[in-house]
Amino acid sequence: MNRTTPTESDPNTVGTVVLPYELVVPVADVYLVGYGMRAPNDFTLETVAVMKQAKRIFGVPPIDASAFGIPQMESLLPLYGPDKKRSVTYREMVDTLLDAAEADGPVVFATYGSAMVGTLPAHLILEEAASRGLRAHVSNTVSSFDGIWSRFNIEPFFGFQIWEATAFVTMEIVPDTSANLLLPQANVYGVKSGPDASRNLEIARTTTVAELRDHLLKFYPPDHRIHHVKAASGSGESGVNAVVETIELKDLDQPGRQLVSSLLVPRAPDYAHKGKLRLDFKMHISSDQPSTEEK
Ligand SMILES: C[S@@+](CC[C@H](N)C(=O)[O-])C[C@H]1O[C@@H](n2cnc3c(N)ncnc32)[C@H](O)[C@@H]1O
Repeated sequence: MNRTTPTESDPNTVGTVVLPYELVVPVADVYLVGYGMRAPNDFTLETVAVMKQAKRIFGVPPIDASAFGIPQMESLLPLYGPDKKRSVTYREMVDTLLDAAEADGPVVFATYGSAMVGTLPAHLILEEAASRGLRAHVSNTVSSFDGIWSRFNIEPFFGFQIWEATAFVTMEIVPDTSANLLLPQANVYGVKSGPDASRNLEIARTTTVAELRDHLLKFYPPDHRIHHVKAASGSGESGVNAVVETIELKDLDQPGRQLVSSLLVPRAPDYAHKGKLRLDFKMHISSDQPSTEEK
């Protein structure tokens, strides 16, 4: 463990962040850092400390946090290609990080939200670091899940399942209809390549999402109300609000309007109560945090 008494001679020192607390950050060669959904609101003290002292920061996407004394990030986005398989891109990202950590650490893999949510390269880096004799540490922070739970007033302890939308159908998963179901990447269902880094990260939208609808219809009624939700994200005032588009399941034959979003399939209504236990709570959208509701 490294405490906030760094010495210049220790290349793995995490940093001089003057705080009224003692900040304890493990020493590592490679850090996996999520910078949260809303920048800088979701930065943690550890995020800032780790990034300030990194030799190199690789961002997916990179952000400018120079006001916090965080060095400029190098972008890994050019590794994406419109017709390039994402598995190839991920391999290149992992090798870039681990090679750089071996050559001159510590290095940071920085991404939005949580580094451990929907970020395969981060999982591969964590898996492979030890076999290269590298120490890895994950700095946890807020993911899109947190924003979805707060927007819908969902208590995930009371039944919650998450499946990447394409995997959900491909693996013929049978959902537990007593629990809420979240399907990230429904809007890019079946899309395996891209995005196009040369065209503002443009990514093809799904043309086959009706397959997802047909699989869901085996378990839920056609009029079951489902929600495309984009949790609060981004910077400034425009990032404060969630955007929700509600449709009936039978109408899920095209992607939602917000490309970066997840599909929420609420539990079947019969399960709103289980015995004496109340599982669902009313949503409360305060007037200073309005949510855009699209029907
Ligand atoms: C590459 S993953 C990154 C997830 C991110 N690391 C996190 O912690 O949420 C991208 C997918 O996460 C989901 N996602 C990202 N941002 C979102 C948001 N603001 N609201 C809802 N889902 C989001 C979408 O399903 C999107 O296709």
